[in-house]
Amino acid sequence: MAKANVICRCEEIEIDEIRKWIAAGCTDFEELKRILRVSMGPCQGRGCRDIILREIAKATGKPVAELRISTIRPPVKPIKTMLLAEED
Ligand code: FES
Repeated sequence: MAKANVICRCEEIEIDEIRKWIAAGCTDFEELKRILRVSMGPCQGRGCRDIILREIAKATGKPVAELRISTIRPPVKPIKTMLLAEED
Protein backbone atom coordinates (compact mmCIF):
# COMPACT_ATOMS: atom_id res chain seq x y z
CA MET A 1 0.00 0.00 0.00
CA ALA A 2 1.35 3.43 -0.97
CA LYS A 3 2.20 5.73 1.89
CA ALA A 4 0.03 8.84 2.05
CA ASN A 5 2.01 11.66 3.66
CA VAL A 6 5.64 10.88 3.10
CA ILE A 7 7.83 13.72 4.37
CA CYS A 8 11.22 12.09 4.02
CA ARG A 9 11.05 10.73 0.50
CA CYS A 10 14.50 9.16 0.65
CA GLU A 11 13.69 7.03 3.69
CA GLU A 12 9.89 6.87 3.09
CA ILE A 13 8.96 8.27 6.50
CA GLU A 14 5.44 9.63 6.91
CA ILE A 15 4.50 12.71 8.90
CA ASP A 16 2.34 10.60 11.24
CA GLU A 17 5.35 8.55 12.27
CA ILE A 18 7.42 11.67 12.88
CA ARG A 19 4.61 13.21 14.94
CA LYS A 20 4.24 9.98 16.93
CA TRP A 21 7.92 10.06 17.96
CA ILE A 22 7.79 13.79 18.74
CA ALA A 23 4.72 13.19 20.95
CA ALA A 24 6.65 10.39 22.67
CA GLY A 25 9.31 12.91 23.67
CA CYS A 26 11.82 12.80 20.82
CA THR A 27 11.96 16.54 20.28
CA ASP A 28 15.56 16.65 19.15
CA PHE A 29 16.25 16.40 15.42
CA GLU A 30 19.31 14.24 16.03
CA GLU A 31 17.17 11.73 17.98
CA LEU A 32 14.66 11.50 15.16
CA LYS A 33 17.51 11.09 12.72
CA ARG A 34 18.93 8.15 14.64
CA ILE A 35 15.54 6.49 15.19
CA LEU A 36 13.91 7.03 11.80
CA ARG A 37 16.92 7.72 9.54
CA VAL A 38 15.33 10.99 8.41
CA SER A 39 17.85 13.23 6.62
CA MET A 40 20.15 10.27 6.03
CA GLY A 41 19.07 9.64 2.45
CA PRO A 42 20.77 10.69 -0.78
CA CYS A 43 19.46 14.26 -0.49
CA GLN A 44 21.04 14.53 2.99
CA GLY A 45 17.91 16.09 4.45
CA ARG A 46 17.38 18.84 1.92
CA GLY A 47 13.92 17.42 1.25
CA CYS A 48 12.76 16.84 4.82
CA ARG A 49 14.89 18.69 7.40
CA ASP A 50 12.97 21.98 7.37
CA ILE A 51 9.58 20.26 7.56
CA ILE A 52 10.66 18.13 10.51
CA LEU A 53 12.17 21.12 12.30
CA ARG A 54 8.86 22.97 11.87
CA GLU A 55 7.02 19.98 13.36
CA ILE A 56 9.36 19.97 16.36
CA ALA A 57 8.94 23.74 16.73
CA LYS A 58 5.16 23.39 16.63
CA ALA A 59 5.19 20.66 19.27
CA THR A 60 7.66 22.34 21.62
CA GLY A 61 6.67 25.98 21.13
CA LYS A 62 10.30 26.87 20.38
CA PRO A 63 11.28 28.85 17.29
CA VAL A 64 13.05 26.83 14.61
CA ALA A 65 16.12 29.05 15.03
CA GLU A 66 16.53 27.76 18.60
CA LEU A 67 16.38 24.09 17.67
CA ARG A 68 19.52 22.04 17.42
CA ILE A 69 19.92 20.67 13.93
CA SER A 70 21.93 17.66 12.96
CA THR A 71 25.50 17.92 11.84
CA ILE A 72 25.82 18.62 8.15
CA ARG A 73 28.91 17.00 6.72
CA PRO A 74 30.54 17.85 3.44
CA PRO A 75 30.02 17.44 0.61
CA VAL A 76 26.86 19.49 1.11
CA LYS A 77 25.57 18.24 -2.22
CA PRO A 78 26.01 14.67 -3.43
CA ILE A 79 28.78 14.46 -6.01
CA LYS A 80 30.31 11.61 -7.93
CA THR A 81 33.36 10.10 -6.26
CA MET A 82 35.11 10.27 -9.61
CA LEU A 83 35.07 14.08 -9.38
CA LEU A 84 36.87 13.96 -6.02
CA ALA A 85 39.47 11.59 -7.43
CA GLU A 86 40.17 13.91 -10.34
CA GLU A 87 40.82 16.92 -8.11
CA ASP A 88 44.40 17.50 -6.96
S1 FES B 1 13.99 13.56 1.98
FE1 FES B 1 14.75 13.01 3.90
S2 FES B 1 16.80 12.43 3.46
FE2 FES B 1 16.01 12.97 1.54
